Amino acid sequence: MAPRSKNKFALFFIAAAVVLVALYVAFHFEFALQTLLSAKMGRLAANAAPIVHVLQLILLALLAYLVVRAFNVFVFGLVFRFRRGFEAPTLVRNIFTIIAFTALFFIIFSVMFPDVNLGALFTTSAIFGVILGLALQDTLGNFFSGISLQADRPFQVGDVISVGAEKHTGVVEEITWRAVKIRTFQNHVVLISNSTAAREPIEVCPRENLNARLVFFNTLYSDSPAKTIHVVREAVREADNVSQKITPIVRIRNLGDNGVDYEVKYWLNDYAKYNDTDALVRQRIWYAFRRAKLNFAYPTRTLLVERTPKPGMRPGDESAIVERLAAVDIFAPLSPEETAMLAQAASSHVFAPGETVIRGGDPGSSMFVVHNGRVNVQISENGRARNVATLSEGAFFGEMALFTGEPRTASVVAIEETEVLEISHEAMKRVFDNNPDLVESLSHIIAERRQGLAAREELSGSKRDESAGILSSIKRFFGMK
Ligand code: CMP
Repeated sequence: MAPRSKNKFALFFIAAAVVLVALYVAFHFEFALQTLLSAKMGRLAANAAPIVHVLQLILLALLAYLVVRAFNVFVFGLVFRFRRGFEAPTLVRNIFTIIAFTALFFIIFSVMFPDVNLGALFTTSAIFGVILGLALQDTLGNFFSGISLQADRPFQVGDVISVGAEKHTGVVEEITWRAVKIRTFQNHVVLISNSTAAREPIEVCPRENLNARLVFFNTLYSDSPAKTIHVVREAVREADNVSQKITPIVRIRNLGDNGVDYEVKYWLNDYAKYNDTDALVRQRIWYAFRRAKLNFAYPTRTLLVERTPKPGMRPGDESAIVERLAAVDIFAPLSPEETAMLAQAASSHVFAPGETVIRGGDPGSSMFVVHNGRVNVQISENGRARNVATLSEGAFFGEMALFTGEPRTASVVAIEETEVLEISHEAMKRVFDNNPDLVESLSHIIAERRQGLAAREELSGSKRDESAGILSSIKRFFGMK
């Protein structure tokens, strides 16, 4: 037990013992006391008995006060703490003390002075009431606002609240009959009178609630959103005091002047520590950016000397594209020069997860190679999309429409952030003009894929027939003999 509460207990017991002894003396030796007083008071001897009665009344009132205090400490301090985990608000304790004490006093008074009508004494003094009301206008206003706050229970001790236009924010420490006491995050105590608290808007972040926070950051326009969102989400979810119950949300807030503006929304275990947690989240983002080679955007003015790059291409991309195309099986028969020519003509496009690259039924005059990422090939079955294949880096699609001029046979949708290289009809025609043998190997591949589709659609026809038909249609479409 803390020394202060030890002292309080000792004081309480001493006071109780003194009052009890005094009461014993006042009642047991009542007659002797009266005789003693009347002997001492001479002419006023007749008042001895009432004086002893008043003395007894005062002692009983003191005892009542001590009993109420003891009850108060026991019920609101210990039982509340034990049953609910926190002490009862001071306001509740005070109201209880006042009511219990007044009731006991009335009982004792009417037992000791049955002839005096206490009720009449108070109710008849209307002027007394008016004076008291005016003098205590503010105090009573606070008192009743305090009572309505208690009845409403918009917040409790331990909750974080923000009050009024000045946004006083802190942890509620106490709700007294006059004011709400909050401790700010600078460890200052702010007292907000109950009437102000009842009038002003209050933002409450309850202790037992999963409260969320928003932290803002930005990246350069060149940094990929899908990567940024993944990296930041993983970095933040591991931070201390970030709730594991809900995964943080990272999303684009704005396309700003200096870069892409993001916000990360996360939920806290202990909201009272949000300043530290916000700081930790920012720190984690910084380190995660560093590891993932992402860049914060800050106000910069960069002069770029543009050397007419191909649309969608970054410096250094071209050699990677040549390598990628050289590894695609249908382009294996091409010479390095022809591959380089194709790479020159290819243009790169980036798709976000879930975006459609090509849509089944649309006309199309280009094919694609998956440079980075993965896509799903989907056909429509009873109005529902069904995956027929998943293609990853180095795979190609869209060749059927390109080579035959027919509409797209399927839709292709990016699974993750995906970069594709688009090869146009003209680029392909130049390659065919250089290398007519390529048409034959391509026609086999197209025939194979068509059979895959046909099997699903229960179409008949042999692969050999398909392949021969496709060969002639490619030749026709590309104006070859
Ligand atoms: P195209 O018809 O131009 O557009 C849709 C593309 O999806 C198609 O060309 C093929 O490249 C591809 N595709 C269709 N069916 C399959 C399949 N069964 N396996 C792999 N890719 C396919």
